[in-house]
Amino acid sequence: MEHLDKDNLPQHLAIIMDGNGRWASQRGKNRVFGHTKGIKSVQVVVEEAARLGISYLTLFAFSTENWSRPKEEIGTLMELLLRSLRNEFEKLLKNQIRLEAIGSIDQLPDKVQEELNHVIQATKNNDKMVLTLALSYGGREDLVQALQKIATGVKNNIISPEKIDQSIINKHLYTRKLPDIDLLIRTSGEQRISNFMLWQAAYAELYFTSVYWPDFREGHLHDALLNYQNRERRFGKTSEQIKT
Ligand code: IPE
Ligand code: IPE
Ligand code: MG
Repeated sequence: MEHLDKDNLPQHLAIIMDGNGRWASQRGKNRVFGHTKGIKSVQVVVEEAARLGISYLTLFAFSTENWSRPKEEIGTLMELLLRSLRNEFEKLLKNQIRLEAIGSIDQLPDKVQEELNHVIQATKNNDKMVLTLALSYGGREDLVQALQKIATGVKNNIISPEKIDQSIINKHLYTRKLPDIDLLIRTSGEQRISNFMLWQAAYAELYFTSVYWPDFREGHLHDALLNYQNRERRFGKTSEQIKT
């Protein structure tokens, strides 16, 4: 069996957790059952990523587009989120994991916002791994809100237009404290970005697996990481340049 190279892990791993609904349908259950079962996968992946020494783990949990789902499904997802934040709090503290949230958090139910803020505050000095939940997050919305802030800066003479560069844009995105994505995993067989981090995934290695999220376990994570470690990231250069 191949072994993971601890020196060649993605600094920032992001996961589009997909397939809860189909996983449940296959078992003749409703979609909500799939979401409930998906929580175990979150626990497993968070713990394993931290154990391996990954610095940044970002989970796409709810997109700006997901607000178009049936009200009951949204309600359950918010309930599950609230419950998970409460249940996992101690474990985050114990494992030295810092929680962050990105997206239009003000759109979330008040209770969820309060619990999120509480956990974010309480874990802010943890330094083993940063776990970021993308909630009510959309890549386009992220760019829009960044542009609004930059435009305001220009209007107030804080930013001069000719100084706008990639680093200024980075500083105004929700992801300002995160490095670019190195590895982006999507489960469930769909091979699309679904408006996840458009700017931040510019040079991400993409990994698609047909496994539905509720079935995703340590072994699947290892497979993805091994696959990542066998790739050559060239960033536009030639292979020869990379090797020297
Ligand atoms: C991912 O599973 C969870 C969320 C998007 C919130 P889905 O609910 O999208 O499951 P499928 O894709 O319909 O199977
Ligand atoms: C993407 O999954 C969003 C999350 C995983 C949170 P979706 O299931 O919403 O994506 P589409 O609509 O199938 O592209
Ligand atoms: Mg889906």
